[in-house]
Amino acid sequence: MDVIGEGRAEPVVVERAAGVGGELVLRRAGADYEIISNGMFLMDTRNGESERLLVRAAVDAALDRDGSGDDGPGGQPLRVLIGGLGVGFSLAEALAHPAVGHVTVVEREPAVVGWHAGPLRPWSRGGLDDPRVALVRADLLDVVAADPADGVAGAGFDAVCLDIDNGPDWTVTPGNARLYGPDGLDLLAGRLSPRGVLAVWSAGAAPGFQDLLATRFARVEALPVPVPRGEPDMVYLARRPRP
Ligand SMILES: C[S@@+](CC[C@H](N)C(=O)[O-])C[C@H]1O[C@@H](n2cnc3c(N)ncnc32)[C@H](O)[C@@H]1O
Repeated sequence: MDVIGEGRAEPVVVERAAGVGGELVLRRAGADYEIISNGMFLMDTRNGESERLLVRAAVDAALDRDGSGDDGPGGQPLRVLIGGLGVGFSLAEALAHPAVGHVTVVEREPAVVGWHAGPLRPWSRGGLDDPRVALVRADLLDVVAADPADGVAGAGFDAVCLDIDNGPDWTVTPGNARLYGPDGLDLLAGRLSPRGVLAVWSAGAAPGFQDLLATRFARVEALPVPVPRGEPDMVYLARRPRP
């Protein structure tokens, strides 16, 4: 996410759509696009540094889970889950990583998916057409709560990259908050492969959430990413779920 600053082009509305989680608005500001969801500035195309780190750090951590470095790109291709799609920085990053063999993208808003056949395509780099990608148009909470035996998460993911909100303390719809609580974290941990890593994006530090992660995972890291104004974005990495 980026904060709209001075000297930038005035945004113009490109499209409005009724969304699953409230109204969705796609705006264009100069060469950039912005997604407003349920009245909340959710994502734009200006700076995807932290959204790319979300995926890269999780995949790299999964490769080096035991510190031996034995699980490199020559091993089994990694399976990544990305929730949600946004402008596609995270998806493009996953597909560019040499160790990634499959990416499941969970996105609940059909309009967002549709924009990747049009104005947002350059940022996802056509990733939705990549044969390594499975798009699931659904609520991420339903996906992680589904029986793994018949759901998309059956085989377990090596990296689960969570960026559906502005952070654990700033959700786009109230229902999303469950994912960052004890129940949600248990469900997410249950979708990880043995070497799996959970990565969570946040617009700013979320110390209470970090403490909760530490009750569920043996190793938790917080990676700050400076932004032009205000608090750094944060990427939380959690691995080794506690039994
Ligand atoms: C901040 S954007 C994701 C940004 C993305 N990491 C990127 O690189 O552009 C959040 C996305 O999650 C979607 N989303 C929000 N709540 C969701 C939910 N419960 N299930 C699935 N997708 C959701 C939104 O529609 C939006 O596309």
